[in-house]
Amino acid sequence: MTTSSTPSSRPFHHPQPATALHCGKVSLETLAQRHGTPLYVYSADQIVARLRLFQQAFAGREALVCYSIKVNSALAILKLLTERGAGVDIVSGGELARVLAAAPEAVGRVVFSGVGKTVAEIDLALTAGILQFNVESAAELELLAARAAKLKKKARFALRVNPDVFAETHPYISTGMSEHKFGVDIRKALAIYKSVAGNRWLEAHGVSVHIGSQILSAEPFGAATERLTKLERQLKRAGIALKTIDAGGGLGIDYRDGSFDAAEAVREYAAAVEGALGEFEGRLLIEPGRFLVAQAGALVARVLQVKRNGKKTFVITDAAMNDLIRPALYQAWHEIVPVRVRAGKPRVVDVVGPICESGDFFAHDRKLPPIEPGDLIAILDAGAYGMAQSSNYNSRPRAAEVLVEGAKARLIRRRETVADLLAPEIC
Ligand code: LLP
Repeated sequence: MTTSSTPSSRPFHHPQPATALHCGKVSLETLAQRHGTPLYVYSADQIVARLRLFQQAFAGREALVCYSIKVNSALAILKLLTERGAGVDIVSGGELARVLAAAPEAVGRVVFSGVGKTVAEIDLALTAGILQFNVESAAELELLAARAAKLKKKARFALRVNPDVFAETHPYISTGMSEHKFGVDIRKALAIYKSVAGNRWLEAHGVSVHIGSQILSAEPFGAATERLTKLERQLKRAGIALKTIDAGGGLGIDYRDGSFDAAEAVREYAAAVEGALGEFEGRLLIEPGRFLVAQAGALVARVLQVKRNGKKTFVITDAAMNDLIRPALYQAWHEIVPVRVRAGKPRVVDVVGPICESGDFFAHDRKLPPIEPGDLIAILDAGAYGMAQSSNYNSRPRAAEVLVEGAKARLIRRRETVADLLAPEIC
């Protein structure tokens, strides 16, 4: 059962109006008492359900969902997804190390994206035997060929092309236009594939794209995939047969309306991508991140003070911008709910952290039920780019993380200590 304040696209709900907010069957109050705050709580059930939506939507063809691990790099979540058939989209040697640590059997389902790969990272990925390098320039392809020859390991590559497709999103997370740093101009791609056709250490394995993140309309995905398919056909005519088309990630969620229909969003997305693939008979890769984990996660914080300054009321929490930077960095909107809702008139407040920056906020002028010091609040839709973009700014140890599966909750990352913070330093 859900209440109107926490509708159904989220796994968080008040079983009864007077009870604490739950993740599935587990009370966030209990978790906060056990593990302290700030605390990230994720629903494994929702993450798996979201993976299934993509897998089912593309069941009619050979398709691989490569979870974009940058979004939430928790080993337990990586394991949860790879155990159910997911591949992984990585962008660094560190992320590959995570795959090797938690899901070594999935290494053959890894695609390696990113505009600047180091020699050490390329070598690590060649040695590990990943599925495909998504290569972002002719120079990077040359470097990959050199490393492959040196290690005597054939490198499967896909050019990441820039399709020059506009997708409406925040400018920091739009990537598919020709003025962006990503990929190679799609008009130059054919010549690049041809130029390495004779190289025995390179296999032209696929073509890839990623047009941006938090994209709410299916249309740009269709447009971008159509351009990839057209290129794939041109390559085929030139005697270069690709095995994969990688449509990237980017499908967005509705941060404001919790009754957002995730299944419908995936159906529309899949219809657009399928429609654009036409006769392509190879393997479709997709790299979703946010859509899989954002709504599964909440950041639970305790209220330290409620302070009035002039006309404003500030709810000061023990979580801060170092724990969740999205509001500060992208002016992102996150729903906030008290874990236990107090009766009384709602008040307009700013919800802020204790860091010495005015950018340290979670919400401005938000109408919330009465909140008192000591109360717990939950910042919703925080499963994606929350913990993964957290930092130790202000020498604040990072939050603990809990994964809820059915009626069980388990700690998947212990809270950092100040000793952890000081350990690498030399004075
Ligand atoms: N593939 C590539 C090559 C990417 O660069 C990204 C995200 C993804 C897949 C996954 O995209 P998703 O499905 O999550 O949209 N920190 C920002 C978003 C940055 C996106 C970076 N690239 C935020 O918090 O909104």
